[in-house]
Amino acid sequence: MDYKDVKRGLPQRSSKVFAVINQKGGVGKSTTVVNLAACLGEGKKKVLVVDFDPQGNATSGFGVEKDELEADIYDVILHDVPIEGLIQQTCAKNVFIVPATIQLATAEIELVSLEHRESLLKACVERVRDDFDYVIIDCPPSLGLLTINALVAADSMIIPIQCEYYALEGVAKLLETMQMVKRRMNPDLEIFGVVMTMYDSRTTLSKQVVDEVQAYFGKKMFKSIIPRNVKLSEAPSHGLPVSMYARVSKGSLAYSKLAREVVARG
Ligand SMILES: Nc1ncnc2c1ncn2[C@@H]1O[C@H](COP(=O)(O)OP(=O)(O)O)[C@@H](O)[C@H]1O
Ligand SMILES: [Mg+2]
Repeated sequence: MDYKDVKRGLPQRSSKVFAVINQKGGVGKSTTVVNLAACLGEGKKKVLVVDFDPQGNATSGFGVEKDELEADIYDVILHDVPIEGLIQQTCAKNVFIVPATIQLATAEIELVSLEHRESLLKACVERVRDDFDYVIIDCPPSLGLLTINALVAADSMIIPIQCEYYALEGVAKLLETMQMVKRRMNPDLEIFGVVMTMYDSRTTLSKQVVDEVQAYFGKKMFKSIIPRNVKLSEAPSHGLPVSMYARVSKGSLAYSKLAREVVARG
């Protein structure tokens, strides 16, 4: 189905573009992108996931076969391939994706010599954002040019923070990067919300980390906390969001609660 067909019959809305960002790897960015998108889609929101990490975890998380792709986000950014042609439907209702593959890894270097190197993704996202309620960009684990492109393209950031020692390590640097992007390219960029991931209710450490992050971010912290849940880590190997793989798991319930909170924040 063409991605534009799904919009018919749905009321007109204004779009929001989120960058899901944290330069630490393994904190739950891609897991949050896939499962938040799927839950928003189930709630009748039309969602575009832009995979902007060369690892392509959001792409494979939706069961998109990377080997079979003729083009990906790399070609959109660097070779002027129209983004519209790459948007494909995922297994999840109302969720579409622009996939990424390892090709994107070379973009970090190729971008350096280009004019407008920081706003190439924004130019592409602008063309399609109004066809969706939410555009969710999955960032790589760095603060390099790919991530800067995501911050320039986004209205706001969703920051996943893992419940572990040194949870806030690196956050100051992340906020510094945000301020730099605000000053130079995207004055309205803000934090949409902070989501705690891999919470383990059996440990006092998890509780301490939540308190620490709460003290730092205050109201920006989402009330929904994502537990450590094995279904969340199994679902990607089946190419499914957790809501389709294990609907009544704690992980699935937590992400649908998060999605409702995201919608309620407006
Ligand atoms: N809440 C969770 N419970 C259990 N495993 C999780 C959870 N969130 C993420 N994972 C697993 O942890 C690993 C890193 O998560 P991922 O979302 O890929 O992080 P990032 O995108 O920040 O690198 C993956 O193997 C993922 O399946
Ligand atoms: Mg990732």
